Amino acid sequence: MGSFVTEKNNYAHLSSRLSVSDAEPDRNLALELVRATEAAAIASSPWVGFGDKNAADGAAVDAMRGLLSTVNFNGVVVIGEGEKDEAPMLFNGEQVGNGSGAECDVAVDPIDGTRLTALGLNNALSVLAVADRGSMFDPSAVFYMEKLVTGPEAAELVDLRLPVKQNLHLIAKAKGKKISQVTVTILDRPRHAGLIEEIRAAGARTKLIMDGDVAGAIAATREGTGVDALMGVGGTPEGIVTACAIKALGGVIQGRLWPTDDDEKQQAIDAGHELGRVLTTNDLVTSDNCYFAATGITDGDLLRGARYKDNRIHTQSIVMRAKSGTIRFVDGEHQQDKWEAYTR
Ligand code: FBP
Repeated sequence: MGSFVTEKNNYAHLSSRLSVSDAEPDRNLALELVRATEAAAIASSPWVGFGDKNAADGAAVDAMRGLLSTVNFNGVVVIGEGEKDEAPMLFNGEQVGNGSGAECDVAVDPIDGTRLTALGLNNALSVLAVADRGSMFDPSAVFYMEKLVTGPEAAELVDLRLPVKQNLHLIAKAKGKKISQVTVTILDRPRHAGLIEEIRAAGARTKLIMDGDVAGAIAATREGTGVDALMGVGGTPEGIVTACAIKALGGVIQGRLWPTDDDEKQQAIDAGHELGRVLTTNDLVTSDNCYFAATGITDGDLLRGARYKDNRIHTQSIVMRAKSGTIRFVDGEHQQDKWEAYTR
């Protein structure tokens, strides 16, 4: 009885607090956004394993755009995706949302892992992040960024400017592990040959991934994933999307722009970037009012991929809201014939 009364009082306190200060429509935005990543995952899923990256991406883009137009917000895509390989895209500057409600920056990645999708491999996600207008970093023309991601334990200790070995020891110490128990996710790319050697020489393990460093980064911040950090060069858009998730998850992403040629370098300098600067989570997204949603396209460490049974499509998503730090896993069951407008 006593505990019931206490619990009841707690809820009463919570509901009055919510109704006074927090009951803004923006609390629902995260749950609205997950519809858009679900739509993109469902639309791209018929293309899984068909070897056609652009068809899968195009289906995801169209579905995400369609669903976003029904969401109550006034969004502008500031981190679009597609320029890198001229894939179909939600382009930078595109207005999304139904135009009413809060003004927001939007970062889209309708498929993080287009190649994984085309090849039918694990860990492809549909991803979306939203934050207050003007709060997402503008990388200008620089497509790549050096990244260091780790969870809350070592977030205040690591520094991209330190030698790799030192960061690994700081992570091991903060997590109470031996260095040989520390695992670092890294994109399997020739540019990482030296970094991979350094990690192994320091005594830590590597987990090489073909693609999808958003899922890799999230795993690096979470308990029980078997991964302690993500290192190496990946997409700048993916870095900004990751920063929105980390604001809810805890942990840190540090980044440093990695221009690939003189032209990109000059464009970055002209846009006012200091090239060697280490960007932190708060530089990549300055507002704490940000949202992240992702839905599995193929099965992965974080989420199950879209599955079909009878007339149902099953999806699994993760939705986060940084202000409250809430993380929700959302299982969706969708009626297949009602999704035909979005699928091939
Ligand atoms: P796409 O699916 O958009 O092609 O991105 C996949 C990805 O692996 C990202 O997760 C990563 O940040 C980026 O590509 C790395 O770029 P690259 O493949 O050029 O090394």
